[in-house]
Amino acid sequence: MTLWKGRISAGMDAAVAAFTVSLPFDHLLAPDDLAGSRAHVKGLGKAGILTDAEVTTLLETLDVIAEEFEDGTFAFAPDDEDVHTAIERRLTELAGDVGAKLHTGRSRNDQVATDLRLWCRRSLLAVAGEIMALQDALAQRAHDAADTYLPGYTHLQRAQPVLLAHHLLAHGWALARDVDRLLTTVDRLNVSPLGAGALAGSSLPLHPDYVAAELGFHGRFENSLDAVSDRDFVAEALFDLALLGVHLSRIGEELVLWSTEEFGFCTFADAFATGSSMLPQKKNPDVAELARGKAGRLIGNLTAVLVTLKGLPLAYNRDLQEDKEPLFDSVLQVSRALVALRGVYETVAWNEDRMQSAADGPAAAAIDLAEMLVEQGMPFRQAHALIGGLVRESLERHVPLVELVAAHPDLGDAATELLEPGVAVTRRRTPGGAGPGPVAEQAERFVRRREVDLTRLAGWGEPG
Ligand code: ARG
Repeated sequence: MTLWKGRISAGMDAAVAAFTVSLPFDHLLAPDDLAGSRAHVKGLGKAGILTDAEVTTLLETLDVIAEEFEDGTFAFAPDDEDVHTAIERRLTELAGDVGAKLHTGRSRNDQVATDLRLWCRRSLLAVAGEIMALQDALAQRAHDAADTYLPGYTHLQRAQPVLLAHHLLAHGWALARDVDRLLTTVDRLNVSPLGAGALAGSSLPLHPDYVAAELGFHGRFENSLDAVSDRDFVAEALFDLALLGVHLSRIGEELVLWSTEEFGFCTFADAFATGSSMLPQKKNPDVAELARGKAGRLIGNLTAVLVTLKGLPLAYNRDLQEDKEPLFDSVLQVSRALVALRGVYETVAWNEDRMQSAADGPAAAAIDLAEMLVEQGMPFRQAHALIGGLVRESLERHVPLVELVAAHPDLGDAATELLEPGVAVTRRRTPGGAGPGPVAEQAERFVRRREVDLTRLAGWGEPG
């Protein structure tokens, strides 16, 4: 069904229809479109444009259609252009003439903007919930890791030992920023465009404030032109998802590295690894690789929407239909990656001996030796040069560092204790640092932060 048979009489050319239809993807908006229509119908009732009986009929029919979508019996017609058209057509089929009153005072321009905000709200909240589930897995593994330590790296060169819990929680905090970004994006997008009409509002006595409240929006649009053309929320959502995807990509890369024979820090559970079609011995980290690979697509989706938006004159332009596929795709891909990575973290086996022996390299406590000299009053730059010189001498003369340390007049036995396996990591005492004291405190702060975020999330009610 087309919605404009008065002005344009001929049916649409088939190739044009194939090019312009959005139903193949915007059917995902059905629950949101139904919610928007319910609020709109109530608003028309409040305005006296529909009688109470008409409101009741339309609301009941919208419920029937909702059930058809839920149980999968809703039948799309071949010429349904988009989900909005399909639902209006079905409403008129079921309710008769009163169905033709549904679109009073409304345009698909304010309708689609409303639907997409509702979809975005529930979808981003669901993603935030999935991030928090991944954080939970990280927190659990951090707790279970107890005193296990591994090398911390800079420039991918071993730098200082850190607790495994510290390393895992580092990803947890990045994800906490993702949760925060999504929640603030939802907060900003929670504005109703309904009542803006095609672009300029209406001559009918509509109640945009009332329908906004009905839909759980904080309020209504300020400017009808802006309301129908604003897709900032789509771009913001795509940025949030792209950055989240970048975080997941870094996690993926790390797991790929750690599972190599060269690192040997972890072994994937069989259910989260893949084999090779040719090489019988292979166990491949495909899940982690895809978590890494998806980031390209997520960044692409953000770029696609920004480029679509950049030259658009006010107000609605059909280009805006291009907002949906990137958005739907990013939400879907990120959700799947979050679930898959959570499974990986819940099941991966850490090879603690490998981690710890890599961290117990002879020079792992070099900074601790230098700081010991600082505590004895030596200027840091001098201490740095002295210990650096001993490390070099040890490498050049093939003498264990510990022997040079023991023999040095400023160092001696107390200093050699710092070189014992597992000692260096215990000396990171400062707040937010990598040793047992601060990490225990950090883990508590992380739990509290999650509780706060869970409360924020719950404040939005059940997503969709
Ligand atoms: N399918 C369209 C979209 O996604 C709906 C709005 C169409 N509006 C119009 N004036 N042609 O943007």
